[in-house]
Amino acid sequence: MTIYAPPVLLTEIDHIAIAVEDLEAAIAYYAEAFGAVVHHREIVESDGVEEALIKVADSYIQLTAATRDDSPIARHLERRGEGLHHVGYRVDDCAAALARMVAAGATPIDTEPRPGSRGTTVAFIHPKGSLGTLIELVQE
Ligand code: CO
Repeated sequence: MTIYAPPVLLTEIDHIAIAVEDLEAAIAYYAEAFGAVVHHREIVESDGVEEALIKVADSYIQLTAATRDDSPIARHLERRGEGLHHVGYRVDDCAAALARMVAAGATPIDTEPRPGSRGTTVAFIHPKGSLGTLIELVQE
């Protein structure tokens, strides 16, 4: 008898993204509080964000500020203030993970994988239908 076990798609927590008003102040706080240093920094113009990534083992804390008023981070800051914005789940195949999540009932924000920061391929999943959590699938 063959027991079918679907493959586990999650390989790592890629990052935890925190929306911040002032990126320099947030970096300084993490340096002061944790001795944390920025591993990677990037402006993602298409998303209207600037990110500072702090490496924790094989994952990142991603401090994220808005670069313009219509960015999702600006809207989050306006509605809810600073705080947890989304969780990035690392997967081997973003398209396959997206298809499987949609099949399981998830509502995609990105219907197809697209470029993310650090040269990754990403797709966002809406919090509605995913336990109130904005999920980003991240393929390195
Ligand atoms: Co992210």
